[in-house]
Amino acid sequence: MGLGGVSVGGLRNQPSQVVALLDLPQHVAPLFDMYLHHPNQQPSLRPRLPQALVAHENQYKKSPDDALLAQYDAQVRRYYQERTGGNKETSWSEQIADTLKKESRPHIRSFLESQGFIQK
Ligand SMILES: Cc1cc2nc3c(=O)[nH]c(=O)nc-3n(C[C@H](O)[C@H](O)[C@H](O)COP(=O)(O)O)c2cc1C
Repeated sequence: MGLGGVSVGGLRNQPSQVVALLDLPQHVAPLFDMYLHHPNQQPSLRPRLPQALVAHENQYKKSPDDALLAQYDAQVRRYYQERTGGNKETSWSEQIADTLKKESRPHIRSFLESQGFIQK
């Protein structure tokens, strides 16, 4: 159908407003939304994590394949360099580490309580 899609978790910045807007009942909480549209450009695809790093069979692999991860990080770094003309230079691991070191959406616990998910 020629559609492109973008997932957006940013709607959890103001989840109560989303509940009001969509008239969501108790025990329903929005996690992310997805915009579907006809793209007016064809940007190159960001390299995806290799399946071997995310798929587990029978047993959970507790430590990742470091060599494969390093290869993917280099690939992502090259992708951003090319895509931004050198303005953005970061690897996947650096991005994830940056995200995890910041407190994210401290209001979520009280929001989930108000939607009936967490019993006090
Ligand atoms: C679950 C999920 C939530 C996301 N939330 C956001 C968001 O809130 N804001 C944002 O700019 N990108 C968000 N993204 C990233 C974009 O959907 C998308 O991955 C990004 O625009 C780059 O596109 P690409 O992954 O095809 O390269 C999210 C991705 C996923 C999978």
